[in-house]
Amino acid sequence: MRHPDWGDERNLETFGRDFGPHGHEYTLDIAFDGPISPDDGMIVNISDLKPLLKTALEPLDGQFLDVGHPQFATQRPTAENIALLLWQTLPHSVASGTLRRLRLQESRRVRVEITPHTMKTSRTYEFAAAHRLFAPQLSDEENFGRFDKCSNAAGHGHNYNLEVTVAGAPDAQTGFIILPQKLDAIVDAEIYARFDHKHLNVDCPEFRDLIPTSENLAKVIFEILSARLKNDGFELAKIGLHETQKNYFEVEAGDLQ
Ligand code: NI
Repeated sequence: MRHPDWGDERNLETFGRDFGPHGHEYTLDIAFDGPISPDDGMIVNISDLKPLLKTALEPLDGQFLDVGHPQFATQRPTAENIALLLWQTLPHSVASGTLRRLRLQESRRVRVEITPHTMKTSRTYEFAAAHRLFAPQLSDEENFGRFDKCSNAAGHGHNYNLEVTVAGAPDAQTGFIILPQKLDAIVDAEIYARFDHKHLNVDCPEFRDLIPTSENLAKVIFEILSARLKNDGFELAKIGLHETQKNYFEVEAGDLQ
């Protein structure tokens, strides 16, 4: 990933380790909606879709995109720009189906989503924290009745997975909605500094009068990140919080109004 008008130093500063040649195994996910055709009982027949996908994907597959595809002579091959190219290349109407959503997964941590009216990028982070589910107005016995072992007096821990989704258009120069290093630095300053390797009940003033369930943690994280990103000129669309493999919580913009 390289901006041709910039020197190596500025490229390295902007794109970090994405600056040098490297590869991804991208996964494309597209969704159509529409009426079910009475002829074949389908919205879109996969046989109709396959050649269209082949036409869209073949020029990208196995290429060194910076030099191997004309689109990226002038644009950076970020997941945002690749997703936009696919959104423009793929037909939006196939049989009785209309293209409603395109997702491009670049890596386990990075995904871009396009719908007719929005574009979003998501990055995933992990942090560890301890908590005790405990309502101060209840007795220890009542707390154990309600929260069971989650009310263990010394607490217990989770490795939380946090997915941060930012909405917007890619920057014309960098090709990113938000530079990865920028979002990493914000999550570092606002989330890791507050909560990573902390006991939420003991160390974190946010939970002095708030039970640190993942509902409340998700709400607190959304409010902190939303305010910080807004201050920096970005729009937080959603956060998703995996407490365990079984338990997931999310807050979308508008949910807390
Ligand atoms: Ni827990």
